[in-house]
Amino acid sequence: MDHVDIIPMQLSHLDGVLNLGYRAYDVDAMPYTSWSLSTVAVHWDAQPEACWVAVDDEGLLGFVLGSLSYDEREDWGYLEWIALDERARGKGVASVLVQRCCDALFAAGASRIITDVESSNQASAAMMRRNGFAEGVTVTLFVRPDPDKSAPAATHPPRDPARARLRRAARATSTR
Ligand SMILES: CC(C)(COP(=O)(O)OP(=O)(O)OC[C@H]1O[C@@H](n2cnc3c(N)ncnc32)[C@H](O)[C@@H]1OP(=O)(O)O)[C@@H](O)C(=O)NCCC(=O)NCCS
Repeated sequence: MDHVDIIPMQLSHLDGVLNLGYRAYDVDAMPYTSWSLSTVAVHWDAQPEACWVAVDDEGLLGFVLGSLSYDEREDWGYLEWIALDERARGKGVASVLVQRCCDALFAAGASRIITDVESSNQASAAMMRRNGFAEGVTVTLFVRPDPDKSAPAATHPPRDPARARLRRAARATSTR
């Protein structure tokens, strides 16, 4: 990995961010099912100063997308999406992205910043703790499947063919 720059997200990063998200998240499972082009665009449109990317000479290494507000609270920031390409993990890049996003959200008026971490995502939990986040309320999704349908759980909703195509394309794409 070459020298890494952490820079504000631009329109030209949209495609790379979307594809990196498709590679990093299991968008068939909670809490990643809402990952989409509109999710990225809405964040960048609403709070561009809280959206940052990490790049090196080879291309996009990671991103963070934040926003005001969380759960109707105008004074709560939401650090909702962060992901790094495999080659950038474990090197402190995530912490710099978190810091830039949090700085922007505090500057925009947030009195606190919320992030949610899926319970088995130990890498994300450890990284968030190291960056000043502490566990608040724990919410567990209880799932009741329709007994008349064979699909086992809402954590794996029916596949959207368009998204499946995008995900396959993203996996086949190297970083830009
Ligand atoms: C979450 C993510 C951005 C963190 O970036 P990172 O570079 O891996 O973070 P760091 O290496 O700085 O910190 C990860 C910590 O978890 C540890 N860790 C990594 N993988 C782990 C695993 N499978 N189990 C337990 N701990 C793990 C690391 O050793 C490190 O611990 P430390 O703080 O004691 O050094 C990155 O892992 C990622 O992109 N994951 C996929 C997308 C994702 O899950 N995003 C978060 C939800 S939106």
